[in-house]
Amino acid sequence: MHQAKGASCAKIILIGEHAVVYGQPAIALPIKSIKLTATVTPTAGPQVIHSTFYSGRLAAAQPPFTGLTKLIKQLLTFFSAAQQGFDLMIDSALPAERGMGSSAACAIAIIRAFYGAFDTPLDRPTLLNWAAVSEKAIHGNPSGLDAATTSAERPQWFIRGEAPKPIHFPTRGFLVIADTGEIGQTGAAVGHVADLLRRDHTKFQPVIEHIGSASRKAAVALAQDDLKALGTQLTVAQTALAQMGVSAASLDRLIEAAIQAGALGAKLTGSGQGGCMIALAADHATAHAVVQALTVAGAAATWTYDFAESEAL
Ligand code: MEV
Repeated sequence: MHQAKGASCAKIILIGEHAVVYGQPAIALPIKSIKLTATVTPTAGPQVIHSTFYSGRLAAAQPPFTGLTKLIKQLLTFFSAAQQGFDLMIDSALPAERGMGSSAACAIAIIRAFYGAFDTPLDRPTLLNWAAVSEKAIHGNPSGLDAATTSAERPQWFIRGEAPKPIHFPTRGFLVIADTGEIGQTGAAVGHVADLLRRDHTKFQPVIEHIGSASRKAAVALAQDDLKALGTQLTVAQTALAQMGVSAASLDRLIEAAIQAGALGAKLTGSGQGGCMIALAADHATAHAVVQALTVAGAAATWTYDFAESEAL
């Protein structure tokens, strides 16, 4: 084993969250400018993690980091190095628990770092299989979308159980991302939707399918460079997500502010009940106006993603 680094980035789900857990399609983008790196260095001492989320011995990590502990232990066993000491440094520009994929991004960078440290080639299906080890610990039933996107180079069309595919994005258009400042807990939100489906399948299964249909229409809008139609589908998905109780007052306030400022559509992104929202803007001036409106409406942070970035890799 030698020192090695692995990288990943933030992700934004454009459309399809929650429904993707139940087999519906989703579209998500890697945000390459918001990066995470994991650097593993072999030592003669204990197994130690340094990060803004958790610092200390691997063995003492508490939930929600126990998923990563499990992943690292299994990786070391796989490399026949279960007792190997190391320092694992995680450097992340991703806010934790805000729907930007921090847990999946952590897992991806760690897997890449350990494979690098043991000079072992790593293909995409193997990478995503490993990521499922820790993602399962977060909410039991992960679709795999977060891992697929935080490890991708381009926007992804994703259906659970199938290989993710790159999807074309128009070269004009902007997504403004805003953080409510409230923690969104994926486990709780996914559990809530599972409960709804268990209790009233007849009522909520059509809502899941409605989100799936919005994702398919969004894909058509992307292929036709039709930002107006895309915005409409984002809002359709938000209405369905709100019906399932995964929005929040803070998200609703930011979504309303973005629409008032000229966004073509807006919705929560990720698991919801807090976390981040996104708004689609046709041009730079509108994106700027949306950022200002979101800041006035109380956003804790904003980021602007230029669709030109999706091709400029
Ligand atoms: C969380 O980022 C996305 C969800 O759809 C859960 C999943 O896909 O595993 C809510």
